[in-house]
Amino acid sequence: MLRIEQIRNVAIIGAGVMGSGIAQTFAQAGYAVRLQARHADSLRAARDRIARNQAAMVRAGLFSGEAARDALARIHPTTSLEEATAGCHFVSESVPEDLDLKREVFAVLDRHAPPGVVLSTDTSGLPISAIASATTRPDLVVGFHWMNPPHLMPTVEVIRGARTADTSMDLTCELARRIGRVPIRVEKDAPGFLWNRLQLALIREALHVVEQGIASPEAVDLAVTAGLGLRWAAVGPLRLMDLGGLTTFHSVAAYLYRDLSKASEPQHTLAAKVVAGETGARAGRGFYDYPAGSAEAAIAARDARLFELLKLLRLPQFRDKDTASPETGAAAGG
Ligand SMILES: NC(=O)c1ccc[n+]([C@@H]2O[C@H](COP(=O)([O-])OP(=O)(O)OC[C@H]3O[C@@H](n4cnc5c(N)ncnc54)[C@H](O)[C@@H]3O)[C@@H](O)[C@H]2O)c1
Repeated sequence: MLRIEQIRNVAIIGAGVMGSGIAQTFAQAGYAVRLQARHADSLRAARDRIARNQAAMVRAGLFSGEAARDALARIHPTTSLEEATAGCHFVSESVPEDLDLKREVFAVLDRHAPPGVVLSTDTSGLPISAIASATTRPDLVVGFHWMNPPHLMPTVEVIRGARTADTSMDLTCELARRIGRVPIRVEKDAPGFLWNRLQLALIREALHVVEQGIASPEAVDLAVTAGLGLRWAAVGPLRLMDLGGLTTFHSVAAYLYRDLSKASEPQHTLAAKVVAGETGARAGRGFYDYPAGSAEAAIAARDARLFELLKLLRLPQFRDKDTASPETGAAAGG
């Protein structure tokens, strides 16, 4: 397997929302990126998306215009998977969430990527082991799960499949640090890994609370953005219990668990909206209304708030001119 300092060229497979943000992040950290999509149109759209994201970061004072241009120049688009992977040192896959498709892509990646190169997948929850078994190098296949928006969110999950080697886990974690991300190790290939298990537990209860008329969607969102989210940025749920005293949390769990949602399939409120085509901001309606043209503004408002929070937290990817350099080994997140 390659050593971390040998990694300079990264192949990103799939150029949608995630692939383009991942390409942007690697390029901003100084890596040479080959971004692959099947169609030239997708690559043009990816380049526009990256340029828009960078412009917002420059406006927010997080990045200089010159650094943004240099990073963009490090991204080489290609429609050829062979060209993307020839001589590459690490592969990050972000094609749509379909197991057959991912297995097909990994079988091809396995044939074209040099031996010893780690193949990572950004699957949201498909089994890493099932993807790895399409290759002859399951020890080098690892889950590398980014959060949306990938160019801003500081954490990535690094997930072990049944046959993933320790060295593949360690290398991917170290690479994450070098591009200014905080790796979260997930040691078991469990459905939803870690992030989505935590997130969906909260979403299930949020839907339950709204369905029961206990609180409005606005109140639920406010409780999280102005309260829980703020505290959880300071202390995680397990240490929170330590600090508050385990006896109290034991007492609350003893009377409250039985009243919480135990839904084992998507609740009615969510399912009905999907059936009605009210699928969220881009459709014009979800839990809130989005008059024509306002979806982009809602996403930009979310990103602007993230910029401010990330600046306050002084996370490494937002220290201007402090980007990682694979040439010098200077790690932004190290
Ligand atoms: N969107 C999110 O919030 C999010 C968050 C974390 C992880 N993910 C995961 O990331 C992956 C990609 O999601 P996305 O939101 O970027 O999807 P997307 O639909 O925006 O992008 C997928 C891209 O892959 C391309 N593609 C399809 N087949 C391909 C192939 N055979 N070879 C190369 N490219 C191909 C598509 O044309 C498209 O451009 C999925 O596994 C998804 O579950 C998504």
